[in-house]
Amino acid sequence: MKIIIINGPNLNLLGKREPAIYGGKTFESYFGDLQSKFEDLELEYYQSNIEGELIDKIQEVGFTYDGIILNAAAYTHTSVGLGDVVKAINTPVVEVHISNTHQREDFRHVSYISPGAKGVILGFGLQSYELAIRSFL
Ligand code: DQA
Repeated sequence: MKIIIINGPNLNLLGKREPAIYGGKTFESYFGDLQSKFEDLELEYYQSNIEGELIDKIQEVGFTYDGIILNAAAYTHTSVGLGDVVKAINTPVVEVHISNTHQREDFRHVSYISPGAKGVILGFGLQSYELAIRSFL
């Protein structure tokens, strides 16, 4: 089973960025933990700060992979293009957020991704990604 985790803008700063909200661990280190935990899966990780690159990657994998775990970060709340590509592909997308966006500012309560997503997992810290993987198994 081939699953890709796609992270959007500023998630390359995990470990340094607002640790009270996002924790103190880098995503690379957490991704290593996930790979050891799910050795039977083909797990991939991609991150970009650029909206069009995220759309290109989703188009590239969205007709052949078994699952996409997407944390579009700030673009979740702004991007019609990302919302559209999630609807355009065949591969199911699980939307993930580290923080509980509904406990935060009003602008974070809107998601352009959710209408096209298979499901949404948020608020469990980095563990949200593991729960998303398990949802595909
Ligand atoms: C986030 C929540 C978003 O509102 C924010 O812009 C992020 C991270 C999360 O994982 O909690 O960058 O997607």
